[in-house]
Amino acid sequence: MEGAIEELPSGPSTSGGPAGGAVAGRHPALRVAVAGTGFIGAVHAHAARRAGAHLVGVAASSAPSAREAAQALGAERGFDDAGSLVTAPDVDVVHICTPNDLHVPLAQAALDAGKHVICEKPLAVDADDAADLVRAAGAAGVVATVPFVYRFYPLVREARARVTAGAVGPLRLVHGCYLQDWLATEDDDNWRVDPERGGPSRAFADIGSHWCDLVEFVTGDRLAAVCADAVTAIPERVSAGGSHAFETHGRAGADGVRRAVTTEDIVVVLFRTRDGVAGSVVVSQVSPGRKNRLQFEIAGADATLSFDQERPETLWVGGREASEVVARDAAHLAAEAARYSLLPPGHPQGYQDCFDAFVADTYRAIRSGEGAAAVDGLPTFADGARAADITAAVLRSTRTGRWEDVS
Ligand SMILES: NC(=O)c1ccc[n+]([C@@H]2O[C@H](COP(=O)([O-])OP(=O)(O)OC[C@H]3O[C@@H](n4cnc5c(N)ncnc54)[C@H](O)[C@@H]3O)[C@@H](O)[C@H]2O)c1
Repeated sequence: MEGAIEELPSGPSTSGGPAGGAVAGRHPALRVAVAGTGFIGAVHAHAARRAGAHLVGVAASSAPSAREAAQALGAERGFDDAGSLVTAPDVDVVHICTPNDLHVPLAQAALDAGKHVICEKPLAVDADDAADLVRAAGAAGVVATVPFVYRFYPLVREARARVTAGAVGPLRLVHGCYLQDWLATEDDDNWRVDPERGGPSRAFADIGSHWCDLVEFVTGDRLAAVCADAVTAIPERVSAGGSHAFETHGRAGADGVRRAVTTEDIVVVLFRTRDGVAGSVVVSQVSPGRKNRLQFEIAGADATLSFDQERPETLWVGGREASEVVARDAAHLAAEAARYSLLPPGHPQGYQDCFDAFVADTYRAIRSGEGAAAVDGLPTFADGARAADITAAVLRSTRTGRWEDVS
């Protein structure tokens, strides 16, 4: 591989050492490029640089906006289009951060060109396409990951370690929610609302998929069947011509074009897991005041664990006799959680830190030469395809009104 030799921060390691600060050694800098420079493209670009990669370039919806974004994000150049970025000979790793409809063609082109790929969720808006990408990534022999980044909170790893160690006892109930409000009025618009760009499921594929991935990750169990109800609370929206995610300014107002909405704002899901555990999740993008409330609660025979991603520095551990709030402190966490604790207790870590850890782990897997399995808990294309299978079952259930098996 070409590229400058530079010292990399160690990042989360398979050896269980600290995740930041120390220098791992000398590695060729990975040459990476980011397609899509909106909300999450900028987060990826930051994480890539933090992990010591060389940011070759970015692509946006037009060549001029790519050049502008390249300057803002510190990339070497703006590509004319995403197609040329994913096949560029001087790029080792492609980050796909575009609207959903472009994930499959761009990921496939990148795999065909032999690139390692980080592709945003939903990996594909169709479950068969997602399965095809899993096969293509396997055949290409590259590392292919999906940013289910909530896995990278230290206290999520702590919850997983406690469930795995049996500290919670046999599981009985799993429930929670993922609530946002940035699409709560009819003036709120985004490409996600359009099924041609976002896919047939909006709220569930967009954020419900994160919740399901996280809960399956922590429990080690899998959703087996779902019974879902979907609501389109806002039947018409006023198009603002494609606002970026989470923007609540620049709305179209009275001059905007009204269009009918066919994707769901709210989904309520009952589920059963393969181990027979009962559960439910409420997903909404129209809950005023809720910005990014991903919360889960897992009740076993001996303890209950509750985690809220808006307060990610603590884990509530409920007990019949006494309950406690566990704060992030590497000295008192399981080793697999402590290695994601980058700062001393009382110095808060957050969402970008999760992204940094995810990207650093992906690069570590690439450099290991042993694939994604070399790094515990790295979400791969298989996990992206799993989310697509759950989304497909949820959509089927909303149509049939019956319980549907998750394949
Ligand atoms: N993992 C996470 O936590 C997380 C969080 C937010 C978004 N996402 C995912 O990231 C993706 C992007 O979401 P976002 O919130 O950043 O959206 P966004 O609207 O803020 O940004 C999308 C970007 O894609 C660019 N784009 C549009 N067409 C393009 C094209 N043909 N070629 C190149 N770029 C093009 C736009 O210019 C824009 O910069 C979505 O798939 C979303 O589901 C994941």
